[in-house]
Amino acid sequence: MALEDIKKIGLLGGGVMGGGIAQTLILAGYPVLIRDLNDEINDATRDTIYDGKWGIKRAVERGKVGFDDATRAMALVSFTTKAEDLADCDIIIEAIPEKLELKQQAFKDLDAVAKPSAIFASNTSGFAIADLARDVSDARKAKFVGMHYSNPVPTMKMLEVISMPETSEDTTETAKALGEASGKVVSMVKDAPGTYGFLLNRIFGAARREAQAIVDAGIATPEDIDKAMMTGRNWPSGFFGARGGIGKQW
Ligand SMILES: NC(=O)c1ccc[n+]([C@@H]2O[C@H](COP(=O)([O-])OP(=O)(O)OC[C@H]3O[C@@H](n4cnc5c(N)ncnc54)[C@H](O)[C@@H]3O)[C@@H](O)[C@H]2O)c1
Repeated sequence: MALEDIKKIGLLGGGVMGGGIAQTLILAGYPVLIRDLNDEINDATRDTIYDGKWGIKRAVERGKVGFDDATRAMALVSFTTKAEDLADCDIIIEAIPEKLELKQQAFKDLDAVAKPSAIFASNTSGFAIADLARDVSDARKAKFVGMHYSNPVPTMKMLEVISMPETSEDTTETAKALGEASGKVVSMVKDAPGTYGFLLNRIFGAARREAQAIVDAGIATPEDIDKAMMTGRNWPSGFFGARGGIGKQW
C-alpha cells in the first residue's frame, strides 16, 4: 500500500498511547478514527490530544505548531465506540491494554469487519507479533506488523517496526513510511517469538535488571545509580525515581 493510499487510520484504544499516536498522525494530515469503550473515555482522549501535557495546544504555545495547522489537525480526529466503524480504515493501529488474550480477541474481531486490504499494526510493548496475529486469516497475516512507539508519543521520535516472516515487505515498508511521514525515526526489527520486548525494551530491561543486581549486591544505592546514569550517560531520568523514574514496569 502506497502512503498516498492511506486515506483513513483507525486507532483501537485511545489511552495514553492511542491518543498520542493519533495526535502525531492528525498533525501529519491523516484522518484518524479512535475506537474506545465509551463516550466518556473518548471525550477525555479528545481533551488530552488538545489540552494535555503533551497536547496540541501546548505545541502551539511553544511555537512548534501553527494555529491553523492545529485547527486542521483537530478536525481530523473522530471517535466511536463501535469496532465495526473501523471497517473503512486503511490501517488500524491497536493500543489496548497489554493483555495477550484481549489483543488476540480484538484482532480476531477486527479481521471480520476490516476491509481485506487493511493493515493491522500493534503497539504492544513486547508480545511477539506472531502471537498477536494467531487468530487472523493467513491473508491478513501478510498485512500484520508491529508499530511500537515510545511514551510520550508526541515528543519521543522512536518507532520500532516489527515484521514476522509472513508480513509482506509492502506492509513493512508502508508502516515505516507512515512513521517517517509523522516525524518518527524508524528502527526495523524482526519478530522473535519466545522473547518479550523487541529491541528497545529488551535492552532497557537488561540494563534495569543489572541495576537492580548492583543494588541487591550492595555495590551502590539506587540514588547513586540514578546519579551516575543521568550525569555519565545523559539519561533524562534514573531507573529508581530520580526525575520521576523510568522503567518502573521492569
Ligand atoms: N504507556 C506506555 O509507556 C507504553 C509505551 C509503549 C507501548 N505501550 C503499549 O501500548 C498499549 C496501550 O498502553 P496504554 O499505556 O496506552 O494503555 P491505556 O490503559 O492508557 O489505554 C488503553 C485504552 O484501551 C481501551 N480499551 C480497552 N479494551 C478495548 C477494546 N477492546 N477496544 C478498544 N479500546 C479498548 C481502554 O479503555 C483504554 O482507553 C499496551 O499494549 C502497552 O503495553 C505502552
